[in-house]
Amino acid sequence: MKLASKNVLYSASILPVVAAHLIVEAYCDAKPIVPVHHPKRIKFANESKPFTVHVTKYVCTETPYNESELLQCKTILRRNKPALFNISVHVPIVLNTFFFEVKTYYRLNDYQQFPAEIHTEVCSYFRHPSEDILSRHIMSVMFETVPHLMYYCPHGNTTYHAAFWIEDRFFPKSMPAGDFRMDVRFRTVRNITILAYRIYFSVRRQGIWKSLIEW
Ligand SMILES: *[C@@H]1O[C@H](CO)[C@@H](O)[C@H](O)[C@H]1NC(C)=O
Ligand SMILES: *[C@@H]1O[C@H](CO)[C@@H](O)[C@H](O)[C@H]1NC(C)=O
Ligand SMILES: *[C@@H]1O[C@H](CO)[C@@H](O)[C@H](O)[C@H]1NC(C)=O
Ligand SMILES: *[C@@H]1O[C@H](CO)[C@@H](O)[C@H](O)[C@H]1NC(C)=O
Ligand SMILES: *[C@@H]1O[C@H](CO)[C@@H](O)[C@H](O)[C@H]1NC(C)=O
Repeated sequence: MKLASKNVLYSASILPVVAAHLIVEAYCDAKPIVPVHHPKRIKFANESKPFTVHVTKYVCTETPYNESELLQCKTILRRNKPALFNISVHVPIVLNTFFFEVKTYYRLNDYQQFPAEIHTEVCSYFRHPSEDILSRHIMSVMFETVPHLMYYCPHGNTTYHAAFWIEDRFFPKSMPAGDFRMDVRFRTVRNITILAYRIYFSVRRQGIWKSLIEW
């Protein structure tokens, strides 16, 4: 009898400890999502631009992926609104290091590479955002379009969902008119593609009709 009550006492006293331990573990497993702090990001003003950007389509490339599963990749064209990109990708692996690549092409006869290229390791970039104007610009666009994905590593072990569109205000003041293609790619350290997509867009200068009327 005495022994039993001692056991009960023992169980009762250890239970909160076990419970606390479980809570801590559950908390760790659920990997707290900490939004990236990036005070120097660009706040894009809604000023008018001498051009309009028209996205014709978003296309996922290099599919199927070996370390991830593309669940959805859809361009939704909308009347009087920019095309919407609706994408989801399941990434079962945990990512503590992964790379982000952006290459832009300008179409003359064929697509020629534009001298604006990003190749950065995301986890360390989030910890120490660089001052490089181009990566700062692209990251700032991502803060506006996919803010829920801008959290510190580890990444992966989740299904990412995003639905976004690109606005004129995200572009630099001087954009040459013409057709462009932007290739975006996320890859592992071992160069395995997690997600890759292309954005096809054209830039049209405005003011042609105005100048015709003026003259
Ligand atoms: C992956 O996520 C699940 C649920 O969010 C969690 O239980 C598991 O511990 C995570 N695995 C790793 C390796 O982080
Ligand atoms: C920018 O201006 C357009 C048109 O006036 C408006 O529809 C849009 O909501 C504005 N966006 C922001 C972020 O202020
Ligand atoms: C997946 O792996 C196969 C075989 O190693 C390779 O040929 C293919 O290029 C890989 N695909 C991607 C998207 O990395
Ligand atoms: C994106 O697609 C998913 C799955 O088809 C859908 O549930 C969701 O509503 C879509 N999001 C938008 C903004 O269209
Ligand atoms: C990495 O993969 C990409 C796409 O699969 C390929 O074009 C590139 O040549 C690869 N780079 C290296 C260094 O293997």
